[in-house]
Amino acid sequence: MAAKKKVRISYKCGDCGATALKWTGRCSDCGAWNTMQEEAPPAQGRRSTSKVRRVDPIPVSKVDLKVGEVRLSTSIRELDRVLGGGLVTGGLVLIGGDPGVGKSTLLLTVLSHFSRRGLKTLYVSGEESARQIRLRADRLKLPCDHLHLLAETDLDASLAAAERIKPRALVLDSVQTLFSPELTSVPGSVSQVREVAARAMSLSKGHDIPTFLVGHVTKQGGIAGPKVLEHLVDTVIYFEGDGRTQLRILRAVKNRFGSTGEIGFFEMTAEGLREVPDASARLLAERVASASGTSVIAAIEGSRPVLAEVQALVGHPSPATPGRTVLGVDRSRLQMHLAVLGKLGFPLHDRDVFVSAAGGLRILEPAADLGIAVSVVGAMRDRALDQHTMVFGEVGLVGEIRAVSHPAARLNEAARHGFRRVIAPVSSVEHAPKNLEVIGVRTLQEALAVLFGAPKGKNTRR
Ligand code: TYD
Ligand code: MG
Repeated sequence: MAAKKKVRISYKCGDCGATALKWTGRCSDCGAWNTMQEEAPPAQGRRSTSKVRRVDPIPVSKVDLKVGEVRLSTSIRELDRVLGGGLVTGGLVLIGGDPGVGKSTLLLTVLSHFSRRGLKTLYVSGEESARQIRLRADRLKLPCDHLHLLAETDLDASLAAAERIKPRALVLDSVQTLFSPELTSVPGSVSQVREVAARAMSLSKGHDIPTFLVGHVTKQGGIAGPKVLEHLVDTVIYFEGDGRTQLRILRAVKNRFGSTGEIGFFEMTAEGLREVPDASARLLAERVASASGTSVIAAIEGSRPVLAEVQALVGHPSPATPGRTVLGVDRSRLQMHLAVLGKLGFPLHDRDVFVSAAGGLRILEPAADLGIAVSVVGAMRDRALDQHTMVFGEVGLVGEIRAVSHPAARLNEAARHGFRRVIAPVSSVEHAPKNLEVIGVRTLQEALAVLFGAPKGKNTRR
């Protein structure tokens, strides 16, 4: 009798895919903890050629475009835009974000809009009870006649229910709470999360049901239950926002059906999520005209220009170690600006400096540099900018002003919101729209001279 061949078990990291023959608590390749999982051994031998299905590749130009994707509008313009023009039937969308940011509220609103149009939908929640969801829908006055609820954590039962009632749209909330009883691992583990995503994918593809999968974000900022999840779905959207403001931003980071440059703005109010079609107006609404230490800049979010206010506060000279506090702007860039300003004759080494992007936007792009530098100088000298003046541009280490992307979009947005003058990199001047004076500057000193007159101790042109 032939000896039974020994089956060799191997382990695979759910994060990076590295394999090992022994189980370890930490992947030796990527360093992730608790991601090594048992892998079934590969099937032995080859299928006989007679059993292999015949498939024929076709030239790209012969691909039939008529049998293509069908789009379903969510009735939320900001969301449709991020999705690349609405939901694709059979598409699986992963929506990630911090707990409490508003994912469940957004998706309940989406399904309610479908319900209003008479379309049957299903909301599976492993997080909240049916009663809680009903109360929320009532409080937000969301019509839900055709919205079916299932408060369930059993993946198999939930998907069987979805197959039975055949909804036009499905929400699975969340990938961390749903689990397949067939797997031994706990809900939220890598293998469970992967199973939920894979099964959701086959349901949405097999039955043409557009599906939203909710995923919470870990402390490291990734959707818990790693990168494998992002590969498995068609679209990955992050819902961002911090606790201090009502502003929420929806951002596509992967989209098989559209571009990833699009973003959507929302506001979390007591009456639910509200779309913010004009983010610049919303961000500038509470601006105090002619306050010292502030400036308005034009940032680019996704592919959209957004105007935002950068505020600075500078303390009195003190022998204590000075603090550098930032909210919504890059701390290391602020430190660089303070060094550059120091060289230009603005001693800030012994003063506390606070810089904040008002309204809850995070502006990390270099185009905000000029706004930060100008606000700090304004705060230090207690000077305000003219309220119809805006600035943008990258500041280099020797105080040079460098060109930034999308100058025309930034200038047009400034003109649209009633600004009359923009201080910007020289190369932007040619993009000036009508009714907007664009003053091109080559150095930070030049910008400060235009805005505040000649800085102390320096001989600058006006
Ligand atoms: P939720 O949608 O449950 O967040 P997630 O699903 O991302 O965890 O939103 C919960 C938070 O939103 C909660 O802290 C309260 C707040 N909220 C409002 O401010 N207004 C509202 O109308 C609703 C429904 C929630
Ligand atoms: Mg939720």
